[in-house]
Amino acid sequence: MAQTHTELPVDPAALRASVREKYRDVALHPDGRFHFHNGRPLAALLGYDRAQVDSLPDRAVESFAGVANPFGFHPIGQNDRLVDIGSGGGFDSFVATQLVGPEGRVVGVDMTPEMLAKSRRTAEELELRNVEFREGIAENLPIEDGWADVVVSNGVLNLVADKAAVFTEIFRVLRGGGRLQFADIAVNETVPADAACNIDLWTDCIAGGQSKEGWRSVIEGAGFVDVEIGPAVDVFAGAGGEENARRFNVLAHVFYARKPE
Ligand SMILES: C[S@@+](CC[C@H](N)C(=O)[O-])C[C@H]1O[C@@H](n2cnc3c(N)ncnc32)[C@H](O)[C@@H]1O
Repeated sequence: MAQTHTELPVDPAALRASVREKYRDVALHPDGRFHFHNGRPLAALLGYDRAQVDSLPDRAVESFAGVANPFGFHPIGQNDRLVDIGSGGGFDSFVATQLVGPEGRVVGVDMTPEMLAKSRRTAEELELRNVEFREGIAENLPIEDGWADVVVSNGVLNLVADKAAVFTEIFRVLRGGGRLQFADIAVNETVPADAACNIDLWTDCIAGGQSKEGWRSVIEGAGFVDVEIGPAVDVFAGAGGEENARRFNVLAHVFYARKPE
């Protein structure tokens, strides 16, 4: 079942503080050991376009920590205005700049200062004019109503305690007919109540996932239609977090939905 505002298993502010601490390391020390794959090996595992990834410098790719490829499911249009929620080191936002073209716009939003600093500096170094990175939280996006043609996100929404709030925000910032396509984890075994409130298990991208039907329910609950769920991706195979991922049968998917006209 999807959560409601009134029954959050963890305190949202405490969770955000833990997430910031963990992802600061991914920004500053991308060669460190994490429970997930990252950087170029992850982009290859997830089937990103090789030429696109190769065209980016290391600092644009090394902190990539997504779980699937949100661009593979439905194409992004030239000139689209795109929001990347939880943009991290900026990898998906940089890929998106190539997809929307020079007349399109990409806004990445993140709450971890080290991630923001990194993505902003990379954008400057690449002299990109169609992307900016804004500080903010997924539950209260620094984006005006109806601005976006498309919202993407990768490996982030499982880290947000209040799923209903974040999908309501995404609905607000999309124009009528706009699309949401995000990659995230589905947890196919029930997480016991004592584990579901364990913040470490949230920051390990386990406890905050939903079942596929749980995701569908919270997406539709915000008013979206045409929900589609892409094939499963075994994103933790061979990574430090594989044991926990197997225990709760965690697999990644791309989720797609549309805001009615
Ligand atoms: C697993 S990383 C993924 C980063 C990026 N999407 C990628 O694929 O490389 C999670 C990112 O989401 C950000 N994040 C997590 N919860 C957030 C929230 N509530 N609001 C804004 N950003 C958040 C973190 O700061 C971190 O940069």
